[in-house]
Amino acid sequence: MDESPPAIDGYDAIEFWVGNAKQAAHHYRSAFGFALTAYAGPETGVGDRASYVIEQGDIRFVLTSGVRPDSQIVAHHARHGDAVRDVAFRVPEAAAAFDAAVSRGANPLHPPRSLHDDDGAVVSAAISVFGDTIHSFVERTAYRGAYLPGYVSIEDDPIAHPVGLRSLDHVVANVELGRMEEWARFYERILAFRPLRHFDDEDVSTADTALMSKVLGDAAGRIKMPINEPAAGRKRSQIEEFLDANGGPGIQHVALETPDIVTTVRSLRERGVGFLAVPSEYYAEAEDRVGHVEESWGDLRDLGILVDRDDEGYLLQIFTEPLQDRPTMFYEIIQRHGATGFGLGNFRALFEAIERAQQRRGNL
Ligand code: FE2
Repeated sequence: MDESPPAIDGYDAIEFWVGNAKQAAHHYRSAFGFALTAYAGPETGVGDRASYVIEQGDIRFVLTSGVRPDSQIVAHHARHGDAVRDVAFRVPEAAAAFDAAVSRGANPLHPPRSLHDDDGAVVSAAISVFGDTIHSFVERTAYRGAYLPGYVSIEDDPIAHPVGLRSLDHVVANVELGRMEEWARFYERILAFRPLRHFDDEDVSTADTALMSKVLGDAAGRIKMPINEPAAGRKRSQIEEFLDANGGPGIQHVALETPDIVTTVRSLRERGVGFLAVPSEYYAEAEDRVGHVEESWGDLRDLGILVDRDDEGYLLQIFTEPLQDRPTMFYEIIQRHGATGFGLGNFRALFEAIERAQQRRGNL
């Protein structure tokens, strides 16, 4: 390992490959408050796909679907359903990041390529990781346009009313039984991520299911990626259910940070976003476990927001139902009051809620 690791400035975008990007974009705009900011598709000279760029705060998602039966995107959708394709990182130099990653053992997917239009140039490259997931390295220092060359910019989305989502907090992968360690080492070796935390099945289990999790992150603290694998339980774990429904490993959830979770979740609920139900007993013990919080316990209980405390402070979090019919990708909404963890104390409460949903689907 002679080359220094790739320099990474943070997340650039998360691209989803979905069955119907036009409708998905409408859902993210009307229900989650994202604004449509750019578009590329047949009307703009892109023959095989349509891509909608949506943004809120510093969060940027790209929703893409194939528009031809022989498209790679259509095949991806047939296998995985609506799923994350690309967790893209913004880098100061895409060619250098790609060369460093590949020399440290990453699988190359796209070598660096430069795209230009009147707004400047973007260089991007990509490596492949677990399942059909990829990481693009995007260098946009010489670009003034809305997203990438070839996209038309869209001003003033009339239907998007933001709900206060501000940044990407973490992105979580589910991998096969016995492969968590290998992928953790991959991120340490290739991207020089550091191990931040480890949970084993003693920490994260209920009577029925369990998981193991390792959290990796970059040195600057901008990127956090927990990696889960199933652990043996009495019944089929939620990670196994994901792996079956997703046709292999992939991104399980994306955590979106807000500075005011009560207002954000209230708005999302008003717009019909579904969240996992919290067991009623949860709030009976939560106040004793967590102690003083700035928010009203009544609001937290009414909205189903979970609370956890670690050495550095506390955090508030809530999990949506899966966004698609397959029990795969979902969102977490999170607000941090100092705590840097992931809500370990809530895992059991959450697992029990997920298991009730699994039971309703006949998968437990
Ligand atoms: Fe999370």
